[in-house]
Amino acid sequence: MSVALITGGSRGIGSVIAEQLAKDGFDIAICYSGNEDAAQKTIEACKKHGVQAMYIKADVSKADDVTAMFTQVKELLGPVDVLVNNAGITKDGLLLRMSEEDFDKVIDINLKGTFFCTKAAIKDMMKARHGRIINITSIVGVKGNAGQANYSASKAGIIGFTKSVAREYGAKGVTVNAIAPGFIQTAMTDELPEEVKKSYLSQIPLARFGQAEDVANAAVFLASEKASYITGQVIEVTGGM
Ligand SMILES: NC(=O)c1ccc[n+]([C@@H]2O[C@H](COP(=O)([O-])OP(=O)(O)OC[C@H]3O[C@@H](n4cnc5c(N)ncnc54)[C@H](O)[C@@H]3O)[C@@H](O)[C@H]2O)c1
Repeated sequence: MSVALITGGSRGIGSVIAEQLAKDGFDIAICYSGNEDAAQKTIEACKKHGVQAMYIKADVSKADDVTAMFTQVKELLGPVDVLVNNAGITKDGLLLRMSEEDFDKVIDINLKGTFFCTKAAIKDMMKARHGRIINITSIVGVKGNAGQANYSASKAGIIGFTKSVAREYGAKGVTVNAIAPGFIQTAMTDELPEEVKKSYLSQIPLARFGQAEDVANAAVFLASEKASYITGQVIEVTGGM
């Protein structure tokens, strides 16, 4: 049985990706930063599909946490075959009011976390001559967004990282792709003011906000053998935004 590790899998998009991959027969490991109850719920939902599943509290921005997490997953489930770098945060604000701390925090979790986890996963993938790395970026990493200089920079960084690592490990059977969601209804977007939501909606040709399932469908495809000739790409899941 192949093992999929989804960072930030306790809720939102990561939780639905974990469930969908469990449905496809992957053993599942998720990490989370705060809410153990939510992590437990995701794991229970995964186990209903007859696979093994585990959760770990780990901060992806800390190298030691990431090393310990990969060691634990390997001991309990086996080497990771599919890594979904999904953990992410926002700390929005206009540039002139953005503190160095808020800039660093977002870069550390979103971009550096992706670096730490990918580095930890790649050796076993090379050994197996098979692996899938799926990085969750954002449409704002492509287009930019006022009030999100830190977040957009982290997500644009993930795109460059994805394309570079894809070139390094393609010959070893490892594909590396990114998914750029648009506006997806989760706790992260629920907190936005109503007028901001309305303005986003007016820019979406498919005239609805995305659901976590829309992103999970793309992740499941990229994790599958059907995507074996796709690497270094950014798939936009934005309703055409
Ligand atoms: N919701 C959207 O509209 C949207 C759009 C584009 C991209 N994204 C991206 O999708 C991903 C998931 O977003 P979501 O909307 O489900 O968010 P969410 O806030 O619901 O979930 C984020 C997850 O990341 C985890 N996390 C946060 N910091 C962490 C850390 N330091 N270490 C480990 N885990 C950590 C949380 O525990 C949680 O499980 C993020 O990378 C986000 O940037 C979301």
